[in-house]
Amino acid sequence: MPIPLKSASDIAGMRLAGRLASEVLDMLEPHIRPGISTLEIDRLAHDHITQVQQAVPATLGYQPPGYPPYPASLCTSVNEVVCHGIPDDRALRHGDIVNVDVTVIKDGWHGDNSRMYVVGEGSIAARRLCHVTFEAMWKGIAQVRPGARLGDIGHAIQVYAERAGYSVVREFCGHGVGARFHEEPQVLHYGRPGTLEELVPGMIFTIEPMVNLGRRDIKEDRRGNRPYDGWTIVTRDRSLSAQWEHTVLVTETGYEVLTVSAGSPPPPAFAAEGYGSSVHRDACAAPAATSDAGWAQATSPVLGR
Ligand code: MF3
Ligand code: CO
Ligand code: CO
Repeated sequence: MPIPLKSASDIAGMRLAGRLASEVLDMLEPHIRPGISTLEIDRLAHDHITQVQQAVPATLGYQPPGYPPYPASLCTSVNEVVCHGIPDDRALRHGDIVNVDVTVIKDGWHGDNSRMYVVGEGSIAARRLCHVTFEAMWKGIAQVRPGARLGDIGHAIQVYAERAGYSVVREFCGHGVGARFHEEPQVLHYGRPGTLEELVPGMIFTIEPMVNLGRRDIKEDRRGNRPYDGWTIVTRDRSLSAQWEHTVLVTETGYEVLTVSAGSPPPPAFAAEGYGSSVHRDACAAPAATSDAGWAQATSPVLGR
């Protein structure tokens, strides 16, 4: 399957979907405090997406081959959970870190993004992991321009995270996104410069590195005597894991981040282009200085490369 290229009107649709996905995270931010459960966070998001945004939560009932239908309107991945945590009735506690990953469908277009939230104060170690992972995502975004290659993105992320003493999860990757939730290409968060697909204007994909405080190995979460939920992935060594995600367009000159809203954390100073150039950016924070089968491939061990 080729990588879909988006037209100007497709891009307009993706800008709206991206902004809405980001606004869900803005809306949730003041609620993510000690005592709230991830199920309550899910309900807030579900109601906002369906009633305020007149949009559809892409994850609800989402079922790639080999998976059970996903039961919630977002993913909440707490502490050692790497990704795809399912909201439950457990209250968040002071010092927890949680990734909230929201994908909305608006007018048929998907906007996919996630942020880390530190519940209450948080340890210095937890806050540093979240911050470095945010910067690692931006190191990848800053590579995006026509003529660059996917391997440049993965390399920039990997080098940054590993120099900080962390490890990068290999088994899950970013992905093309548009009329489908997960399409080509796969966007690995590690790799070698100058390798893999060349970037072309009109491509849209996510960059969503998962970075572990300890070793990079992961496993299915099979704690207790309950059956596996089919989704939740944890670090094998139970060390903390963080993740950030943006949806990014390749423009004629560089990139444009599509998952942007008033509450988006400002890009780091090293990302000189900020969110990228576009008139619709003016209202937003200024910079600080394939198919589902394709995704099933992307979520199984990335081999043969
Ligand atoms: N939003 C996730 C991503 O970034 C995918 C979640 S699929 C779900 O690709 F079914 F787990 F919700
Ligand atoms: Co994604
Ligand atoms: Co996502």
